[in-house]
Order: sequence, then structure tokens, then C-alpha cells
Amino acid sequence: MWLLYGANGTTGRILLEIWKAHFSDLPRPVLAGRNPVALRALGERYGLSYEVFSLVQLHQRTLPSEIQLVVNLAGPYSETAQPWIEVCSAHRKAYMDICGEWRTFQQMYAHCALSVPIITAAGYDTVIGEGALYRLCQARPNPEQLKLRVYAKGGFSAGTVKSALTMLTQGYYIWRDGQLLAVPFHEEKWEILPHRTYTFAVATLAELITFPAWHPVKELSTWVALPERYLRWRGLLEKIAVWKPFLEGMYRLLDMQRGRLAREMDLNARSYLVAHTEDYFVLVDSPQPYWVTAWTVLSAVRLFFSEGAEAGVSSAFSRWRDKLWEALPDIRVSEGRL
Ligand SMILES: NC(=O)c1ccc[n+]([C@@H]2O[C@H](COP(=O)([O-])OP(=O)(O)OC[C@H]3O[C@@H](n4cnc5c(N)ncnc54)[C@H](OP(=O)(O)O)[C@@H]3O)[C@@H](O)[C@H]2O)c1
Repeated sequence: MWLLYGANGTTGRILLEIWKAHFSDLPRPVLAGRNPVALRALGERYGLSYEVFSLVQLHQRTLPSEIQLVVNLAGPYSETAQPWIEVCSAHRKAYMDICGEWRTFQQMYAHCALSVPIITAAGYDTVIGEGALYRLCQARPNPEQLKLRVYAKGGFSAGTVKSALTMLTQGYYIWRDGQLLAVPFHEEKWEILPHRTYTFAVATLAELITFPAWHPVKELSTWVALPERYLRWRGLLEKIAVWKPFLEGMYRLLDMQRGRLAREMDLNARSYLVAHTEDYFVLVDSPQPYWVTAWTVLSAVRLFFSEGAEAGVSSAFSRWRDKLWEALPDIRVSEGRL
């Protein structure tokens, strides 16, 4: 059995729909989180048992012995990953998440001697991003410089915006010669699809930590396509984000808007991610990121139960690579010379 914590969030709800339709052969999840009303409704809807507890109560709980794996969908992970990793280590349970926060990865990867599997980064950007980088490195071994660009479409959840806010004041980095190197904020135009050029801003994405952790890289930079209106306000946002009351107010506002943001998502949108060197590219055209995240998590859960997982911290893609990639639906890959 496995425990799904944060089951009532946007990603959890999409995951449960996909679980019912496509993954019902998996061991049944036990739903968990801190909202009793939402969890009871989900439990009734999917015929699943549920448990209600906050992270503060987590250390006083005994996790049932039948639970082998905890899937933590509750973010920002700067708040939730550490308590869960401590409890999973103490109770000898495997842990999985969809973290995309680079500082949290730095802390996680520092725990190299953990005796249980810590399967991190099982979400869209990291699985698809590492998959594209891996394929690029097979086509062009030992490149001098790698760039990864993400053009995600179909809307954002409150949790994603909260996670992004936590990183707003943490600066911009690239990976070079075995370490993170601070760089100034900068933008560049890039034609990600024929005749479709977007402005990409340098961003400190998860892959800067997760990919060099298992694959040699000389230089890697990561970029996201951002709307012009965000780029106009970025400087001001970064300045006021250091002010704690502002962040707390934004969190409250986002929590109130969670339902609206989820309803406004376009689950049929397609997203694009390209990994490239100076002269070669791998482009991945995939379904909507939250939908893909639900599939990557459920596929990783299936691989965990069928293949097992080694102790220690590593990303979902680096553990199962081709097996995880092949399990993802409707992923279209094109590659060639630039
Ligand atoms: N890597 C990827 O590609 C990817 C994709 C999707 C999402 N994510 C990340 O996953 C996280 C969740 O996303 P979402 O779309 O599900 O967000 P969401 O719709 O805002 O839901 C957040 C969920 O986390 C729970 N939660 C938040 N803080 C908590 C805390 N301190 N203690 C206990 N529970 C807490 C919420 O519980 P309550 O209802 O009780 O508030 C809710 O269940 C975010 O960090 C997001 O960035 C990553």
C-alpha cells in the first residue's frame, strides 16, 4: 500500500482521476492531508480510506506497517519535504515527491547516507527535462554547453505559484564545472517551434541539481518562457518578495484562488521543452504539465512496486530512465541539427 499526502490539491485530484481510469491495478492509495472535509469527499468518491493530519502532527504518528511508500504532493517543498523525509527514514518507508525547488534539492541531496529510497522530482518538468537532456547527451556525447528551455502551457496551480514565490529571492544560477555559478538575470529570444519565437528568461530549474547528480555535464543553463507582463513586474516582485508579510499575504490569496486556478486549467493544452547544444536539439511535445505529472507519478509508483528502488536520494527519471519514459503517453519527440 502507499500513502498519498496532499491528495486534495490540484495535482492530487488529477492524479486520482487518472488512477481510477488507467492505474487501478496498482495497490490502492490511502489518501491523506490536513483538510478533513475535502479528504472525506475524495475518499467517498474513489472508495478509498483516508487519514487527516498536519505536518505538525506527523512526528507523533505511527505510519501503518502496510504502507511501503509515501507520495508527498504537498508543496511548497521547502516546508514539507524535510519532515516527511525524517519520518520516512525513521519508519523505513520509501518517499516520493514532485519537488521542483532547487534549494530543497540541495538540502535533500546532502543526505547521501539515507537508508530508504528518496525518489524526488517525479513531476513534469524534471522527468521530461532529464529525459530530453539524456537523449541529447546520447546523440551528442560530452557537449561543451547544454541549454534546457521550457514552454509550459495550460495554466498553473496555486501550489506552483507558491513554490515559484519561495524561489523568487534565491537568485539565478547555471551549472558549470561541477558547481552552481551565480549569473545576472537575462533573457533571450528562441524559436522553439517553427515561426514561433518566445522570450526565455534564465531560471534556476530543478535539473541544475538533479541532472548533474547522475550524469556528467560541463555546463547547463535552464530557461523558461515567461509572459511579457511578468517580465515587466519581475524586478519589483523580487524586491518585495523578501518582505515576509507580503509573501504570507500572497500565500493566503493563492489558497483562496486554488479552486478557480484549477478550473481555469486547460488540460488539453500541449507543452514544449527543448534541450539543445550549439548545433543539435531534442524537442519534446507533451500533454499538459499537471496531467503529465499525474502520469509520471503513477508510472513511478508502478515501477517502485514492480522493480523496487535503491536506498538514497535520486530523481525518478535517473532511477528508471527508459522504463519510465516508455510508460508516458502521447509524448512526441523530434530531434536534429540546428
Ligand atoms: N515538478 C512538477 O512538474 C510539478 C507539477 C505539479 C506540481 N508541482 C508542485 O507540487 C506542489 C503541489 O502542487 P498542487 O498543484 O497540488 O498545488 P495546490 O493545488 O495548491 O495543492 C497544494 C496541496 O498541498 C497541501 N499543502 C500545502 N502546504 C502544506 C503544508 N504545510 N502542510 C500540509 N499540506 C500542505 C495542500 O493542503 P491544504 O488543502 O490543506 O492546504 C494541498 O493539498 C507544488 O509545490 C507544485 O510546485 C510540481
